[in-house]
Amino acid sequence: MMRVRTFLTATEVDPGEVGGSTAVVIDVLRATSSVVEALAAGARAVYPTVSSEEAIRLANSLGRDDTLLCGERKGLKIEGFDLGNSPAEFTTERVAGKRLVMSTTNGTRAFLAVEDADRVIAASLLNLSAAARAVSGAERLVLVCSGRENRFSLDDALCAGLLLRVLEKEGELEPDDASRAVLALTHAHEPTADLLLETGAGVALVAVGLRDDVLYCASRDRHALVPEMRDRVIRLSEGE
Ligand code: MLT
Repeated sequence: MMRVRTFLTATEVDPGEVGGSTAVVIDVLRATSSVVEALAAGARAVYPTVSSEEAIRLANSLGRDDTLLCGERKGLKIEGFDLGNSPAEFTTERVAGKRLVMSTTNGTRAFLAVEDADRVIAASLLNLSAAARAVSGAERLVLVCSGRENRFSLDDALCAGLLLRVLEKEGELEPDDASRAVLALTHAHEPTADLLLETGAGVALVAVGLRDDVLYCASRDRHALVPEMRDRVIRLSEGE
């Protein structure tokens, strides 16, 4: 039996309650999609940070030669940073062998909110099946939808629901109310590119010229890899 608790926004997470759980951080548009792409392209590690000042301090202490600063505010690259938060920017040419220090509005906070969990992994539509496999033996699962500016975000909720749909085929779940709600949502909506374009996050990205990012993030199971965070550093999960 797997006990599942879903947080519909990262701000709902009580860090004291995640100990002993496996946590899954979800930010379809776009932070966890970008983390998946970055590791797929050979980045050594991703360091989530909350503020741009913290990101700059950390990048300087890691050594700027092989460290890139990445992140967005209002969807766009932070001034002076090397990369923004578009999954397609994280190419082998740009990121292979590099450390990436990342600061995004919602996604990187969600990682830090669950840092006390036993395991912390990242899921997006790009690695949905691999993420489901990685957590399938957990007794206590916590799903964290990063949300958007402290509000519910349909893209993340659908990704959480799809993950639970895979898991319920494999064993019995003991879902809380929010987990039941995200499961039910998947019977009403498919996270197609068209639907993602209509979500609040999708509309905001289109408004700043990032429509292609939304299409990119809709592509299901593009990679069979699982980012896992230990001691605030996200790397490919062991065994991959
Ligand atoms: C975030 O972490 O706030 C999001 O990924 C926003 C974005 O699309 O860059």
